[in-house]
Amino acid sequence: MAHVTYPPLDTLKPVATDLWVVDSGPLRAMGIPLPVRMTVIRLQDGTLLLHSPTRYTTELHRQLSKQGPVRHLVAPNSAHWTMVKDWQQNVADVMTWAAPGLRKRSGVKRSAVRLDRDLEGETTTGWPDELEQIDVPGIGGFHEICLFHNPSRTLILTDLIQNLEPRKMPQLLRPLLKLAGNDAPGGRAPRYLRAVVMLKGKPAREAALRLKALQPERVIFAHGAWFETDGSDRLEKSLDWLLPADRYKQVTSVVPAASDLSSGLAKSSGGSLVTSLCSLRLAFPSGHLFPGKPRH
Ligand SMILES: [Fe+2]
Repeated sequence: MAHVTYPPLDTLKPVATDLWVVDSGPLRAMGIPLPVRMTVIRLQDGTLLLHSPTRYTTELHRQLSKQGPVRHLVAPNSAHWTMVKDWQQNVADVMTWAAPGLRKRSGVKRSAVRLDRDLEGETTTGWPDELEQIDVPGIGGFHEICLFHNPSRTLILTDLIQNLEPRKMPQLLRPLLKLAGNDAPGGRAPRYLRAVVMLKGKPAREAALRLKALQPERVIFAHGAWFETDGSDRLEKSLDWLLPADRYKQVTSVVPAASDLSSGLAKSSGGSLVTSLCSLRLAFPSGHLFPGKPRH
C-alpha cells in the first residue's frame, strides 16, 4: 500500500524563498489515517513562524535552527493546536498565536496549553507585517485563520481545503473520501465543514471573496496534495461552494450528489441520505470537521 503520508516525514522541504513545508502524520481519527502538514515561514526579521505545528522532534528542531530561531507558533483553527505544547516546552521565547475563541474550548483549557495572543488581524501588536490574516468563520464558534505570505504570494490554509489522494488511502476507505468530498485532485473542505462555514452566511462568503482576490501562486494546506501550481484557479474551484454563485450550486455541493449516493459506501448501506451523512460523521470525526472537538 502506498504511504498515506508524504515521506520523508518531519523534515524541512523548501517551497520558495523563506518558505518550507513539513509533512508529518499519519493522524489517527477513529483508526482512519490522515496525512498532516505544517508550513514554516522565515520572517523579515530572520525568525521563524510555524503554522499548524506538527509533532516535535529534536532533528526537525535542529533543521529549523539552521534557518533561524523559532519565535512564533500559530494554532489556526479549533483542530490544529495539540502539538503546540510540545514545541513550547522545547523552544525558548516563543509566542503562540491562536484562532479566535480557541482558548475557550474545553479541551484547550484542560490541556493547559499556553496561548499568548489571539489572531485578530494584522494590526495586532507584534504580528509580522508580511503576513496577511483572513478569518473564515463558521457557526459554533468555528474560525479558520488563513495566512497570505506576500513575498512568495502563497496562501496558507488548514482544513478549508483538503485534497486527499485516494491512491494513498486504504482501498476500503476510498469511498468515504468521495462521500466526504475532500478527494483529489479537486479537493474541497469536507461536506460537513462546508455546512459549518456556509451556515455563517455573509461573513464567510466575504472571506472567500477576499481569499480569491489574493490570486495566490500556490496554496498550501494541512491534509493531502497541496496546490503547487495554478494556485489562483485551483483555489477558486475548491471554494466554489462558498464563493457567491448561484444558490443551487451551493446547496448541491454540501449535500452528497446523487452519483455519490449510488456508489461506494452509500450504495452498500442502502444509499439513503441519512445513512450517508451519518457515515460522514463516522468517517471524519476529528476536530477539523467538528468545531467543538479539537483533535490535532
Ligand atoms: Fe485538520
